[in-house]
Amino acid sequence: MFKVLFYLFVSVYLVHAKHEEYQGYTLYGVTVYDSSQADQLIEIVERYTLDVWSYANLETEGLILVAPNLKQVFEDEISTIGITYRIDTDNIKEKLDLEDALMAEAEMKSNASRSDRFGLSFDVIHRWSVVDRYLIDVANRFPRVARVVNAGRSVEGREIRYLRISSNNFATRTKPVIVIQCMLHAREWVTLPVALWAIQELVINNTDPDLIRDIDWIILPIANPDGYEFSHTRTRMWRKNRRTGFTPSSCIGVDLNRNFDFIWGTASSNNPCSDTFHGPRAFSEPESVVTRNILSEFRTRIAMFLDVHSFGSLILFGFANRQVPPHSAVLNRVGVQMAQRIDAVKWPQNRNYRVGNSAQILYQASGVCGDYAQVAIGNRLSYTYELPAHRNLNNINGFLVDPAFIRQAGFETWEGIKVAARTIVRERL
Ligand SMILES: *[C@@H]1O[C@H](CO)[C@@H](O)[C@H](O)[C@H]1NC(C)=O
Ligand SMILES: *[C@@H]1O[C@H](CO)[C@@H](O)[C@H](O)[C@H]1NC(C)=O
Ligand SMILES: [Zn+2]
Repeated sequence: MFKVLFYLFVSVYLVHAKHEEYQGYTLYGVTVYDSSQADQLIEIVERYTLDVWSYANLETEGLILVAPNLKQVFEDEISTIGITYRIDTDNIKEKLDLEDALMAEAEMKSNASRSDRFGLSFDVIHRWSVVDRYLIDVANRFPRVARVVNAGRSVEGREIRYLRISSNNFATRTKPVIVIQCMLHAREWVTLPVALWAIQELVINNTDPDLIRDIDWIILPIANPDGYEFSHTRTRMWRKNRRTGFTPSSCIGVDLNRNFDFIWGTASSNNPCSDTFHGPRAFSEPESVVTRNILSEFRTRIAMFLDVHSFGSLILFGFANRQVPPHSAVLNRVGVQMAQRIDAVKWPQNRNYRVGNSAQILYQASGVCGDYAQVAIGNRLSYTYELPAHRNLNNINGFLVDPAFIRQAGFETWEGIKVAARTIVRERL
């Protein structure tokens, strides 16, 4: 009992010392009424380097986080051009503290009910070192199906590892490969359980033996470990990697999802202070090189490449410059299959998934991982997932994770992925 109180005290204390940098930051919901307003909003966002949680378009409200000293000018500028807004969260720091408190509570309950079963729990979002250790443990424990690959080191020197999961160590050259990559963007924590769920089901539970008999899997749970750790230890809303050496030196990080070599630098930011800074050149970052190497090593065998992000309940395919690949009808059909399966098992309060071209549904962009992957694998399937922004009763929303949703996020997304995997085998896609 004393121990529990002690932990409670420590965690509450830590919670209150954190997130000071977000004191007074306001999350705005913004509505645009034509595409010119949407474009002007992007200009405003770039002028003030605001933190876009989601872009506004004609179908969906955008969410933009604004520092206290910019609130007035932001409200004035968008009102002048006819954009309307509401205040979603007045002081986001309170929600960040709440997320920490919910996570601490979930961890305590999880520890109390911990069983001897091997595997990571789906009660909390695990840190990088825990996941990294786990990948090694899985490979040691299940050497016949799982191998760990040291794929390279991050900017700060963390080892980037992924699992190869296969019934015969990738020996059948005709067997399709599916790649699942998560956490390219640091703050998108809810993507981690998707990778962990797939590992659990394929390797440990062995729930669907056909999926490992017919398919080889590559699962990269944390593609951006430095950014991910920084989002835990310091700045919760960190998106980029942790590259330094730019001017001004206070501006750190490259947006890895603008750093790939597909129309690089044409619809992204040249400003190191921006959240969509594309870096000095395509593949300037070791983290994006890891993904490039996976794609080039298995190029001829990859039947589906999934880059998992949050948020928006979307399954997107290329290209982000509005061109669509020649096989977009197949991309759309399999995407809809996945979406319908997830919708059938999702929590009712979350919206249905939408499927489509990323530029049409979201916005134009360049250097995007999923687009580069699409070109690399030709007429096979490349998707960017945007997982649901589950909103709980306390209004935890957007990138913030309600611990109660972690298990469901892993479960429902895997349900969708399984449908595509079986379609690939059945139709030899
Ligand atoms: C829960 O267990 C983990 C692993 O043993 C430990 O690191 C962590 O401190 C524990 N948390 C609490 C709140 O007891
Ligand atoms: C794995 O098996 C356990 C025990 O049957 C079950 O509780 C769990 O939901 C299964 N799947 C995952 C991903 O943990
Ligand atoms: Zn993302």
